[in-house]
Parts: sequence; C-alpha cells; structure tokens
Amino acid sequence: MNQKQLEKIKNDYLNSNPLFNTPENIHPLERRIVLKNYQVINPESIVEYIAMDGYFAIFKALKMAQEEVINEVITSKLRGRGGVGFPTGLKWKFALGYEAKQKYVICNADEGEPGTFMDRHILEGDPHNNIEGMMIAAYAIGASKGYIYVRAEYPLAAKRLQKAIDDATSLGILGDNIFETEFSFNIEIRLGAGAFICGEETSLMESIEGKRGLSRNKPPFPAETGLFNDPTIINNVETIANLSAIILNGGEWYSKIGTKESTGTKVFSLSGKTKNNGIFEVPFGISLREVISNIGGGMQEGSTFKAAYTGGPSGGILTENHLDEIIDFDSLVKLGSIMGSGGIIIADQTNCVLDTIKHFMEFNAEESCGKCTPCREGTTILYNMLDDITKGKSSMEELEKLKHLSRMVSTTSLCGLGQAAPAPIYSALEHFYDEFVDHIEHKTCNTGVCEMLINEGSE
Ligand SMILES: Cc1cc2nc3c(=O)[nH]c(=O)nc-3n(C[C@H](O)[C@H](O)[C@H](O)COP(=O)(O)O)c2cc1C
Repeated sequence: MNQKQLEKIKNDYLNSNPLFNTPENIHPLERRIVLKNYQVINPESIVEYIAMDGYFAIFKALKMAQEEVINEVITSKLRGRGGVGFPTGLKWKFALGYEAKQKYVICNADEGEPGTFMDRHILEGDPHNNIEGMMIAAYAIGASKGYIYVRAEYPLAAKRLQKAIDDATSLGILGDNIFETEFSFNIEIRLGAGAFICGEETSLMESIEGKRGLSRNKPPFPAETGLFNDPTIINNVETIANLSAIILNGGEWYSKIGTKESTGTKVFSLSGKTKNNGIFEVPFGISLREVISNIGGGMQEGSTFKAAYTGGPSGGILTENHLDEIIDFDSLVKLGSIMGSGGIIIADQTNCVLDTIKHFMEFNAEESCGKCTPCREGTTILYNMLDDITKGKSSMEELEKLKHLSRMVSTTSLCGLGQAAPAPIYSALEHFYDEFVDHIEHKTCNTGVCEMLINEGSE
C-alpha cells in the first residue's frame, strides 16, 4: 500500500457514494473528535474509514521522525483517559528512550469501572481508528507488536476489532514495511479475564502473559519493564482514539480545545436519574449543571438532584453545591473526586449515599486481587464496617476506626485498586456527614433504603 493507492480508495468511494450524514442525535454542546465516525460510517468497512481520511494520519506520522510524533503529542497536552490522566507524550518519550529488541503497545479495553460504557461504543463504532492510533504509538516508540486487551463481555467490539485487523492486514496497512517504510507492526486481540483488576496495567500484562492478574510493584514502570519484561506502552481506548486527529490537525490545534491543563474532549457515559442517558463527547470544562440539564435533558419526573458519582468505586461524590463547577481532571480532584474513566451516575432524593458507598466497597473487596494484605483484608473490613452503619449497629467510635483504616488502606496498598478504594468514604464524610450521624446516632435512613433501620425505627 502506498499514498496513491490510499488516495484512490478514498476518491473512488467518495465519487460513487453520497456524502456521509451527520447523526441527528448530536447535542449542540458536543464536539466530536473521538466519536467523529461514530454512527457515521459502517464500522465494518475499511473503505468507509479511509474515505473519512482514515489511515492518512499514520501515513503522515511515518514521514516524521519518531521524536517529532512524540513532540506533537506532548504539544497537544493529551492526558490518558484510563483514569490517572498521565501525559501521554511523556510516557511515550520514556519508552522511546529505552533500548530493546522488542517493544510493545497495548490498548487497554478492559473497561470495568461500574457505570462506564464509553470504550465499548468507541470500539464498536470505529475500530479502525483504534488500530490507526496504536500504529502511531508503535511507530513513535519503536514497537513492532501490539495487543488489544478487550473485555470478554464486549463480543461485538472484539469481533469488529478482529475484522478491522484482518481487513487492514489484507490491504497491506498492517504487517511488514507499512507504506513502503521500515516500520512493521502486527496486532493481536486478547480477551479479558473477567476481573476488574485486569484493567490495572501491571495485572493486565500478567494476564496477557498467561498468568493470574496480580498487580506488580511500580517502579519499574511498564515503559521500562513491561510485557515480557520489555518496554511497553499501555494506553486506554479513548486516549488512543484521539491520536489520528492530533497527528492530522496538529498538537497545537488540540491543545486549544478544553481547559488549560485538560485539553481536548472527553467522552462521558451518563446514567442514573437524568431523562437522557448514554454517551456524549464534550470539550473539558463543561459544568455538571450543563451535563444534567442540557445533555441529560434534566432530572426524570419526580426526581430531585442529590448527588453525582464520578470515578465509580474509586471516585467521589459531587453535590448540588458543585453544579456550576467545571469538569476536568484537576477540578474534580480539588472537589475531592476524580474523573476516573468518565462515568457519571446521577442520583436523586431516593438514593442513600451510605448504601451506595457500601456497594462500591463490596465491589472493591470482591475485585481485590488479594496480593497485598491492606487491600485484601482492608477492603473487606471496610465493607463490614459500612454494612454495620447501614444496619444501625455502629457507633461514633467505630466511625473513627473506619477513618483510620481508610487512611491505612489508601497509603499502604500495592496498586490503584486499594489506594483508591476508600475514596468514596472520604467524599461521603466530607459532603454527607449528616447521613453518617443519622444512621449511627439516630438509627434512621431518611431515604428508606436501609431497611433494617426503617424496621428498627418503626418498632
Ligand atoms: C483497579 C484498576 C482498574 C483499571 N481499569 C482500567 C480499564 O479498564 N481501562 C483503562 O484504560 N485503564 C484502567 N486502569 C488504569 C490503568 O492502570 C492505566 O493507568 C491506563 O490503562 C493507562 O492508560 P492511559 O494513560 O491512556 O490512561 C485501571 C486501574 C486500576 C487501578
């Protein structure tokens, strides 16, 4: 495959087909970069992807030096969308700096955070864009092999990715000497092992290596010692889905979208008590009120806004005092929450915050890989303590112990699962302290969710 052939495929298609329609359901506040082809092209057609300038970005990148590609990504200020928000270009720079015969690029498509379903739609709707993004990353760091670790519960995403890999390989876009250069790259799909911890980058690599998904110590970081001990870049689906647009339009262009330190757009998944639920893509900087009132279409009939859970079981809770705060990586941290991978769950007056954070802790305890004691034992004990609170069996002294243990689990756990597991507790203590007092001292649950308390109160 060369430039002329790629252009011919594009032009032949455009000359004999009507223009692509823009989907009608895009909200005026949206700006679609990652989702540019979503519901626009047939995701199973490589020709339609090429007609939308697909594979022109890797073609352009291959004419640049590796450092230039990385600099473009650094200029864009793209931050990883998998939860931590680490600068993507910087991570690549580290990986380029390590000499090795073999390097890897991994696309993290394990999407396990409750309330999130963005990556699923991105992959199902435009799989070639992720293949192209992985090629750009691979060229930049000098990798010749890629893996997509896709959640096994996403069979359609896995099927479309496999078709995309097969079609790109048959056209000579993936494989050896891509676009008549020295660059060769192949991709394999690995199905996720069905555990939340396998989305954590070091456990994910263990899983690809055929082992049980247990976290590794960091450092060394994957960019130095990753898959099979070789330098490896792991990026989230959405991070990778931004790359073709950054290379085609330039890092400078991208850096002007969004807020100063959280550039570009973010795909969110909205669920809960708003009228409209689903995914949407907006520049960073939108307010929570705009999300609920405009994109969400307001609260459902009979529902009054009480809380927004962001970052799932590792995140925090926003209240009505935060409705006009903007949403980006750093603003959410200042408010005691995190972006996580982009799930926003809207709760109304019927939601008991303590019951919800208890279920988050149950999730963390079940999903702990068990390798380190603070997380393995600590999350279960924290769950039991929260369960006691929701059953009216706790005391203010126990609450102090809950705070103490939370700090211990956060500071001594091996990986992000344990480190962030107590985050919803901190956030609930900060914003909904009255509910702790109601449950512990007054033995009441104002929402009526904690049944044991209703029964005791009525006796
Ligand atoms: C328990 C746990 C689960 C995670 N699950 C995912 C996941 O499903 N998808 C993902 O991209 N990142 C996940 N991460 C974050 C990854 O470890 C890693 O930071 C990310 O894949 C890096 O990509 P990025 O720089 O593009 O964000 C998880 C982290 C933890 C601690």
